[in-house]
Amino acid sequence: MTHADGGSGRIAAVRLGLERVGAAAALFGLSSNLRYLTGFSDEPGERLLLLVVPREAAATCLVPALYADQVAAHSPAAELEVWADGEDPQERLAEIAGRIQDVSGPILVDDSLWAAFTLQAQAAFVGRPFGLASCVMTPLRERKDAAELAAMRRAGEIADAAFTAVTAAPISGRAEIEVAGRLEAAMLAAGADGIAFETLIASGPNSALPHHRAGTRTIRAGDFVILDYGCRVDGYRSDISRTVVCGDPSREGREAHEAVLQAHWAARERVTAGIEAQAVDAAARGVLTSAGYAAQFVHRTGHGIGLDVHEPPYIVNGNDHRLEEGMTFSIEPGVYFRGRFGVRIEDVVVVTRKGAEAMTHAPQELVRVS
Ligand code: CO
Repeated sequence: MTHADGGSGRIAAVRLGLERVGAAAALFGLSSNLRYLTGFSDEPGERLLLLVVPREAAATCLVPALYADQVAAHSPAAELEVWADGEDPQERLAEIAGRIQDVSGPILVDDSLWAAFTLQAQAAFVGRPFGLASCVMTPLRERKDAAELAAMRRAGEIADAAFTAVTAAPISGRAEIEVAGRLEAAMLAAGADGIAFETLIASGPNSALPHHRAGTRTIRAGDFVILDYGCRVDGYRSDISRTVVCGDPSREGREAHEAVLQAHWAARERVTAGIEAQAVDAAARGVLTSAGYAAQFVHRTGHGIGLDVHEPPYIVNGNDHRLEEGMTFSIEPGVYFRGRFGVRIEDVVVVTRKGAEAMTHAPQELVRVS
């Protein structure tokens, strides 16, 4: 996403955050925060790229030459300090640090900044305390604006369409990885920027492993299969899980699926602005505990999502942070029977005045596929 204002509105919001917490500056590497602030990012690599946002001065971006044009195009709000391969950017960084040496307060770094770069920054900002930039960034990023929500809805629609397309064809006799490839191809053909995370296709006993990736196992009649996948639109991600069955389900499988579906809806109906995040987890957990599946529900109910697949707010016991309108997170209760099968039903929702609005709408019932 490009920002008409070159990110200056969001960078100004970071400055207000720095004032609020009394920090001197925030440093961002190649990360989702950089993307949020400038519209530009990439996978982090070994070359030092740092957007330095001081509380009381203009932003500067120390940028490797090969990224200079991209950063300039996205972020006129920051002054560029370009360094070339073969140079050592450390002196330039020390110079940038020197400009704010009289400003009090700690230096905040991107939570995901590589340790190597954090140590370089510590060497440049001599003797200063360091902290994490999430204390400034989470309040900005947790609540999505209209453009962010539009991208997430589109990413959800593309994921829904991929489910319909892929489950219309037989999946029995195919390898998990092949089904993953079909889902991904359908999403890319529909206009996604890319996939949201490595597609999970967990069949038969693999479905009892909540984070099994797609492997070479061949899907067989009678298997429960969890499809957990998503795509990106303008960098914003969708994330959906559906459990399908090849042929006829066992009674035990049908009952487990029904309980997870009820837990999913108990959580979804609990969503409203002002309640603690952990109340949503408790709603799902209550249903599964009453149904006798407490020991099989081995993970939290959900995670925030946006530019990152997993970001605050986390829907987990112990999180008393209150939900607000515009927050987006998954609701994904599941039950897992080791060595046999698992069930998970996941949709991402946004908190609205009327409660939870889902980003994905593919059928949640136990879909039978051939
Ligand atoms: Co998820």
